[in-house]
Amino acid sequence: MPTKRKEERYEIDLDDGLRRELVGTWVQEKHQRLRYYVDISRAARRKFHGNSTFIDLYCGPGRARIKDTPVIVPGSAVVAASEAARHAAFGKIYIGDISATNLDHCRQRLEQERLSPIIAFEGAAEVTAQAVSRELSPSALHFAFLDPYSVQALPFTVIEALAELPKMDILIHFSIMDMQRNIKALMKAGKLDQFAPGWRDQVDPALRNASALLAVFHYWCGLIRNLGYYVSDNVERVSGTHNQPLYWLVLVSKDKLGERFWDKISNVTPQPRLL
Ligand SMILES: C[S@@+](CC[C@H](N)C(=O)[O-])C[C@H]1O[C@@H](n2cnc3c(N)ncnc32)[C@H](O)[C@@H]1O
Repeated sequence: MPTKRKEERYEIDLDDGLRRELVGTWVQEKHQRLRYYVDISRAARRKFHGNSTFIDLYCGPGRARIKDTPVIVPGSAVVAASEAARHAAFGKIYIGDISATNLDHCRQRLEQERLSPIIAFEGAAEVTAQAVSRELSPSALHFAFLDPYSVQALPFTVIEALAELPKMDILIHFSIMDMQRNIKALMKAGKLDQFAPGWRDQVDPALRNASALLAVFHYWCGLIRNLGYYVSDNVERVSGTHNQPLYWLVLVSKDKLGERFWDKISNVTPQPRLL
């Protein structure tokens, strides 16, 4: 049987000789929500007079090309930083990635744009979240974007570490593509335990895949609420070109204002209520 060639995830951008990611069109929707949130929260940021940060612990290389098209888009950290710079720049930007190359290329691209001061942490988010959280000022306004490829790269300890800061809004990419297909295998292999510790006490592993996915998601939202967060029930569903669900974007904030902001910007297309 012929073996399927593994799809390349990166290529070199001839403009700057750095790596860029190859992505689906839906990335633009994700970045649009991120951009809107940075924009709508600018007045809140202004009140902090530069005492504000953006944190992107899965930053990628800072630039991407939409597969099968010539369209080049900036990566999430560049999107957030350049949007903020239009009205109320972040005082500092913290980036992290498990890939040293991605991290370095993202840092270089942010530096090319001369955006806010950048602090880079190489490593798994589980470790970098703790390191970043130790550096952050408890009196500052923080906004983190967590954008892993899969829930397996998002242990709950990442959210716990960030949640130690009193003013920390977090926009989370909850990846459902692999989850929906493999949830039973993930459950059996113990791979959900880090993502949603204690799920076994609340979720019936005999549920059908779609119901099991929702039950794990509800349980995980409950864990976040226990950290003192409002979890917006306006979960943004992002679908692929064949309308297959790819991921949900979840905004969590300790302030009702964060939730109101998200309500305003997330309802551009009608979304099913999940919670
Ligand atoms: C979806 S890409 C990020 C894309 C980027 N946020 C954007 O929108 O431009 C996921 C990134 O997470 C990194 N990664 C994978 N596992 C990780 C982990 N456990 N901790 C931190 N980064 C991880 C990958 O190297 C990759 O760069």
